[in-house]
Amino acid sequence: MIKDALIESDILSLIRTFGLSRMEAIREVKILFAHAIGLGQLDLIKEPSLMSEPLHIERYQKLFQDRINGKPIAYILGEKEFYGLTFKVNEHVLIPRPETELLVDVAIEKIQSHNLKKILDLGTGSGAISIAVSINVPGVDVVAADISKNALKVGEANVKSLCPGASISWVESNWFSKISGTFDLILANPPYIAADDRHLKSPELRYEPLGALVSGSEGLDAISEILEQAQSFLNEGGWLFFEHGYDQLDRCQDLLTGQGFTSLFYALDLSGNPRISGGRIGAVTRTI
Ligand SMILES: C[S@@+](CC[C@H](N)C(=O)[O-])C[C@H]1O[C@@H](n2cnc3c(N)ncnc32)[C@H](O)[C@@H]1O
Repeated sequence: MIKDALIESDILSLIRTFGLSRMEAIREVKILFAHAIGLGQLDLIKEPSLMSEPLHIERYQKLFQDRINGKPIAYILGEKEFYGLTFKVNEHVLIPRPETELLVDVAIEKIQSHNLKKILDLGTGSGAISIAVSINVPGVDVVAADISKNALKVGEANVKSLCPGASISWVESNWFSKISGTFDLILANPPYIAADDRHLKSPELRYEPLGALVSGSEGLDAISEILEQAQSFLNEGGWLFFEHGYDQLDRCQDLLTGQGFTSLFYALDLSGNPRISGGRIGAVTRTI
């Protein structure tokens, strides 16, 4: 088996570099080892001798080097779990975040309670939101758009493996520039981090596409642009909601009001922070 002292020093390096707990660091070492061998973690427990083969140790050490340099585990494995589904990811897409599951929860609730059918997912990235919604509310028609051709390729691969029968079409578009038609619901998890935010210096964020994270000096450029144009793409009574930073609630609600949205709402994440804002447009004369 790989020398215990070596593993201990890797665990300590992970704790020091990323501020992980000891348990998280041990978990990462196990994940990297299993990935290096090409087996599951259970196989490693059953067959610990696999960890002493020189080729496996060499592969593990290369992966560990990538990790300690900041590469997120999800990019090393090429996958990330979101909404109970395993999504392929690479460095062209944002790694789907647990907090975005709240956007999917709210979307499912609104789609079901207002019988919404046509949905636009702006900045779809890996397709996480479009796919989670389509699987949980069969029968919806989704247009998934992103400015990045490489991100759309990842989204399409995820549909093929997770929900090949879903009605999801892909559009390369700078927000609404190539979008046609109108929708009952527009969803977005746009970039919303301010350009000078100190978190951008974290070793892990450096691996993620900057265009998926940053949006102007206050982080609100993308949200403002989307809200300015959204009305023309919403059916009467249609809904729009989006994810934002925990400290952007007031400004997002003001932007919604400024663009004529009504029935404004927000949703809190598990830590009690407001992370989703939205509303609807137009005189509500029918129920959608
Ligand atoms: C925060 S990521 C969200 C990805 C995915 N929806 C998720 O929740 O995991 C933002 C996405 O918006 C895309 N994006 C950035 N600027 C854009 C623009 N001008 N038009 C369309 N998409 C854009 C990025 O390529 C990225 O995929």
